[in-house]
Amino acid sequence: MKIPAKVTGSILYELREIIKPGISTKDIDRFVENRIREAGMIASFLDYNGYPASCCTSVNEEIVHGIPDAERILKDGDIVSVDIGTTGGGWVSDAARTYPVGTITDQAQNLIDVCKRCFFEALEVCREGYRLSDIGNAVQTYAEAKGFSVVRDFVGHGIGHDMHEDPQVKNYGAPGKGPKLMAGMALAIEPMINEGTFEMEVLLNNWTAVTTDGKLSAHYENTVVITDGQPEVITLDERERTGV
Ligand code: MF3
Ligand code: CO
Repeated sequence: MKIPAKVTGSILYELREIIKPGISTKDIDRFVENRIREAGMIASFLDYNGYPASCCTSVNEEIVHGIPDAERILKDGDIVSVDIGTTGGGWVSDAARTYPVGTITDQAQNLIDVCKRCFFEALEVCREGYRLSDIGNAVQTYAEAKGFSVVRDFVGHGIGHDMHEDPQVKNYGAPGKGPKLMAGMALAIEPMINEGTFEMEVLLNNWTAVTTDGKLSAHYENTVVITDGQPEVITLDERERTGV
């Protein structure tokens, strides 16, 4: 799993330089598709339940599953979440980041930062001795303390030979419930955090989820492996981890 995960992580790192005002969300998809192909791997999302692209690009009030579009030109002040799955050797990896486009407001940057922090709060409990619902509780506690809301209608998931395996990983709820976390489990942990209400609707394309109040949404996801010690975040590029 670490082999495709490394490709996913490095593409997400490289996108920091690619995403700027004037490019389209289709340009992002072309870059992702080419990088996955150059690595000799498969874009996990393409054709998944009929999904028509190699990644998801969700702009501003779009929560997840935005479809790349040559006519959707990113402009200064937007935020865009990019979600990528890479399959190699029969193993799947899944991760997402939210990027600023040009100069964004302090509130938008704060939302992006809080969403990422939610993931790392959850990572603290990704150890033997905790239970599954401790993950969602950590996300919800942090996000709501910062005045944001947690999306309820989408969840993280187990991951392995298939992108979506059991168990579902909620981003909210009471702690101390569900299966015990054990070494060898692989989970895609993916907080989706909104500026306003957590309520959402799906657009007529049957994919794109948007906030009902039109306020911003951020997404941050990694594939995580539970061990008998520190959890391993296998889709986090070394350059990103060390802040280069
Ligand atoms: N990355 C998403 C998830 O975490 C899946 C994307 S849906 C797809 O569940 F259809 F685009 F594959
Ligand atoms: Co996922």
